[in-house]
Amino acid sequence: MLLELDNLVKRYENHLAVDHLSLNVREGEIMGLLGPNGAGKTTTLNIITGLTGMDHGTIRVFGIDIGSNGQEIKQDIGLVPQEIAIFDDLTAKENVTFFGKLYGLRGALLKERTREALDFVGLGSRAGQFPRNFSGGMKRRLNIACAISHKPRLIIMDEPTVGIDPQSRNHILESVRTLQREGSTILYTSHYMEEVDEICTRIAIMDQGRIIAQGTSEELKTMISSEEKIEMTLSEINYTLVDEIKKLEGVLECHGEERKLTVLARKDSGLIGQISLIIGHSGSEIYSLQVDKVTLESVFLTLTGKSLRDTG
Ligand SMILES: Nc1ncnc2c1ncn2[C@@H]1O[C@H](COP(=O)(O)OP(=O)(O)OP(=O)(O)O)[C@@H](O)[C@H]1O
Ligand SMILES: [Mg+2]
Repeated sequence: MLLELDNLVKRYENHLAVDHLSLNVREGEIMGLLGPNGAGKTTTLNIITGLTGMDHGTIRVFGIDIGSNGQEIKQDIGLVPQEIAIFDDLTAKENVTFFGKLYGLRGALLKERTREALDFVGLGSRAGQFPRNFSGGMKRRLNIACAISHKPRLIIMDEPTVGIDPQSRNHILESVRTLQREGSTILYTSHYMEEVDEICTRIAIMDQGRIIAQGTSEELKTMISSEEKIEMTLSEINYTLVDEIKKLEGVLECHGEERKLTVLARKDSGLIGQISLIIGHSGSEIYSLQVDKVTLESVFLTLTGKSLRDTG
């Protein structure tokens, strides 16, 4: 385990922002922390990086308790904060250099790593420019460069793609994958289901200060559904056809209405081929076919009772 959070509690007056939260992140993972506004994501990340104190709990990074050796560990963590933290009156290069120094880089290595980080986020040709003229996406990318020039083992990213153009967003998602391939472990918070689904090796769903479920995207999806719905439009439907489909192993329900056939089946029972054969034999034809897949969105909705989509 690269990061172990055990029973973290953080209270703001009488509001429990982090409520007995435990989470482990393995070396080499991209762990997604997915939760709506106010779930406690930023508070959790700030506790890990020492920006916020906690009321209770223990944190081990690289197997070391941060209470005992916080300063040394911090040199090996990179934080991309939710609020962009760059200086408008320093150039892009000066910004990255500033943060590189904070993380302990000096001399020729500092220069080299600064250049590498700027190239990595696609801002190499803008090194001498001031970020006040940058687009939102470019500022975000500079924010990332500032957090990674020291090549940290653990990179913590707090909603790095909020409110930016799709091109910068894709660039950032690709960068996260590259950082992982190059050996970093990433803790990535977001309330965009699709991107978490796309890049994260594991996902923890957070709500009201607690982790309410975790696993791979597939594990989370099978957690809530072992069934799938197959809907077909046919040239014609007759009752023998419906009866024959009902007899198939794995079919839980089947009914036909006008030209629409609906089959509820156990997931992964590979029934579509058999159903198509029966339809073919009956002399009918399939005009359209749709299988309702379980999405991460529906997992979230089932677990929390709320939708994530409009919260941003
Ligand atoms: N400094 C603070 N003082 C009082 N309450 C706070 C403070 N910081 C956060 N909170 C509260 O703690 C809860 C968790 O906030 P946090 O910022 O960690 O959520 P989040 O999951 O990061 O949300 P978002 O998606 O909006 O960034 C919220 O109810 C918030 O209002
Ligand atoms: Mg936040």
